[in-house]
Amino acid sequence: MSAAEAVRFIHPGHTVAISGFASAGTPKDTIPALADRIRHTRAAGSNFTINLLTGASVSTDTERLLAEVDGIALRMPYQSETTTRQRINNGRMDYVDLHLSHVAQQVWQGYYGTVDVAVVEVAGITEAGELIPSASIGNNKTWLDVADKIILEVNSWVPAEMEGMHDVYYGTALPPNRRPIEITRADDRIGQTTYRVDPAKVVAVVETNASDTATSVTAPDAISTAIAGHVLDFFSSEIRAGRLPADTLLPLQVGIGNVANAVLSGLDRGGYQGLNCYSEVIQDGMLGLIKDGTIAHASATALALSEVGLADLNANIAFYRDHITLRPQEISNHPEVVRRLGVIAMNGMLEADIYGNVNSTHVMGTKIMNGIGGSGDFARNGYVSMFLSPSTARGGAISAIVPMVPHVDHTEHDTQVIVTEHGLADLRGLSPRRRARAIIDNCAHPEYRAMLDDYVARAEAAADAGQTPHLLGESFDFHRRYLATGSMR
Ligand code: COA
Repeated sequence: MSAAEAVRFIHPGHTVAISGFASAGTPKDTIPALADRIRHTRAAGSNFTINLLTGASVSTDTERLLAEVDGIALRMPYQSETTTRQRINNGRMDYVDLHLSHVAQQVWQGYYGTVDVAVVEVAGITEAGELIPSASIGNNKTWLDVADKIILEVNSWVPAEMEGMHDVYYGTALPPNRRPIEITRADDRIGQTTYRVDPAKVVAVVETNASDTATSVTAPDAISTAIAGHVLDFFSSEIRAGRLPADTLLPLQVGIGNVANAVLSGLDRGGYQGLNCYSEVIQDGMLGLIKDGTIAHASATALALSEVGLADLNANIAFYRDHITLRPQEISNHPEVVRRLGVIAMNGMLEADIYGNVNSTHVMGTKIMNGIGGSGDFARNGYVSMFLSPSTARGGAISAIVPMVPHVDHTEHDTQVIVTEHGLADLRGLSPRRRARAIIDNCAHPEYRAMLDDYVARAEAAADAGQTPHLLGESFDFHRRYLATGSMR
């Protein structure tokens, strides 16, 4: 049926779980049709909102449509869209920001009530009635299992040869029935290539032929190249110290964005061969590395590609299918697997404090940027947990190294290495006072070092300085100065 007919199964107050992770796999027709339905109902005087559950961020063009009509009462678990962000920060939308590996189990446990309708994009339906996933898996397996009603969007734009790239694992359960997740290598397959679905729950099948939204990639600039350089030097010194295997390192997890892409480009020049990724998304940088053999296999839950990347993937899909495995996000981000494989976790941050606590989500401690996403899944459980960021934000007006972060996503216990364009602070084995020295000397922008030195000197001189010296009355002066003047300078 048409998308407009299909969304008649969605009613005010429903909890709607949709496919989509980063730019891949968002239902292309049904969600815009739902936004239209909400707009018209609103114009007729009725208040129509839904609770929206996703894999992570979904296509921003699509999410914006729902946010603009104030159609989302509650959003979970990760977003990166401007209108949604404004609604959340204005208190007009409830937002629950949780580790992406936790989403499925919290939904099974019933924290989000009944999932009334799942809207899931698929590449096709097999003769046996199973579903061929498209370019992201996210929480789709869970949505299909738990939803009362299912709307399938079959997208013929997704190349048929993508079938076989997926590994959908059906062995997860709640305690005390959990079994080991038997992945010991990034390319292990433990599931099946399709989703199961109860046909009795499928109330609509919508056909479409629309492409995924392309992500934008800019060429690495001087700052991201410098950050990548420090990361690569670190890998070399870890190999020399015998802590990382030469040539293959350990499986890499790289957050999305330009710094991540710069690190990936750098790997190309590092002489590595046969690397593995156990990550959340596959981005353009990884495709090139797969092609030239630097990366042997990449495991993730979604493909987040630019137009060039999408064209490359589609043109060489049979080749990439042998080198890429897409998994449910509860498995791509599973703490047990991340710990077992010894993943090297590299994520972005807004700011870190001088002791290594990291804020990834809340500007000034109050305003949400995106969400924690999978960074916590990987940071806590990684073999090495690294946070990468330019040393300043907003054209130098804000220091990314501050005395005390006003919101903590990753504690000092989860942060092992901090990297900015100025250098790398290896915090392993260091007490808080030594961590402060390492972070300020290696990572802070030179313009902010004197202020940070002054803070530490006075905090340490206090009679009751303690294990982690702070001047609580002024620890947020870095942030206050910015709030008062619009600039920290
Ligand atoms: N204070 C205020 N704003 C800051 C800031 C700070 N200390 N640091 C960065 N910002 C702003 C930037 O100005 C920019 O704003 P704009 O979009 O309005 O220009 C925005 O935050 C993004 O910063 P940018 O330097 O472009 O970095 P990024 O794209 O790498 O994003 C995070 C950084 C922290 C927002 C991003 O990594 C994130 O959302 N992380 C959490 C989820 C995650 O790690 N996922 C990966 C797991 S697999």
